[in-house]
Amino acid sequence: MSVVSLGYLVVGSTDIQRWRQFGADQVGFMVKDGPDGALWLRIDDRPFRFLIVPSASNGLLSSGWELVDEAAFETCIAALEAHGHAVTRAPAATAASRCANGVATLRDPAGNQVELFHGRFRDYQPFVSPQGVSGFVTGDMGLGHVVLSALNLDETEAFYKQFLGFGNSDEMHLQVSPNPADPRLVIKFMHCDNPRHHSLALAAMPVTAGAVHAMVEARSLQDVGCALDRCVAAGSRIASALGCHSNDQMVSFYVTTPAGFDLEFGCMGLQPDWSTWVPTRSLVSDIWGHQWAPPPTA
Ligand SMILES: [Fe+2]
Repeated sequence: MSVVSLGYLVVGSTDIQRWRQFGADQVGFMVKDGPDGALWLRIDDRPFRFLIVPSASNGLLSSGWELVDEAAFETCIAALEAHGHAVTRAPAATAASRCANGVATLRDPAGNQVELFHGRFRDYQPFVSPQGVSGFVTGDMGLGHVVLSALNLDETEAFYKQFLGFGNSDEMHLQVSPNPADPRLVIKFMHCDNPRHHSLALAAMPVTAGAVHAMVEARSLQDVGCALDRCVAAGSRIASALGCHSNDQMVSFYVTTPAGFDLEFGCMGLQPDWSTWVPTRSLVSDIWGHQWAPPPTA
């Protein structure tokens, strides 16, 4: 049974106040205090898309993948369990904290925490950005995308295809070492049951903050440029300058979040017709731009 979208991300934080400032003042999300010290970051008509929870460390804790209904949710769990995957049905309180009717958790083969859910709550409040962002491209396409670490790339890719219904969109084979004899970094881009070019990417590289990056797609280039200006003015680390990716044609910049992983803030992402799409292999990551900053010093 296919996942329909990336519904939410759960992020651990040692300093919720930093997320409050980053979310509201820099990237223009609505912020609201949730239960148990959590912070809700809202980018559309859902109560939140980013759930920031108090934690002893910073980083992505889990990715919430939406099944269309309870029957699809149960079918997905049954298939996982039939193949020996340990799935835990979350207590009602945990499901309520995700604003969902039902949540189940498990680890993908790379160790990333996966949350499956169905029946998302809605409060019918409009999204009004505190910074004038015109809006984000979400709806049936979910919050955006997330890029996770998977050193066991083939096994993890197969897991998402077999059990969660993902399909291949593109794979990048990138020369990241100055020595051309070194192996290329491989990144697999995968779509679920919506038109977004990819809701998930798996990178064969280690990470320290639970994710390589997450992406939100604003409605206009003006939104992206203004967000970049705000992040620069606030002194945030701009991990990558503005650029346009080769595969999904996203025009974006990357800012390092208080969690330590980057947020890609983009617009104009490709929405392929999956009935005719031929998965591609990209040998370069960008059409233009996306100059990366040096790695942060510890
Ligand atoms: Fe991205």
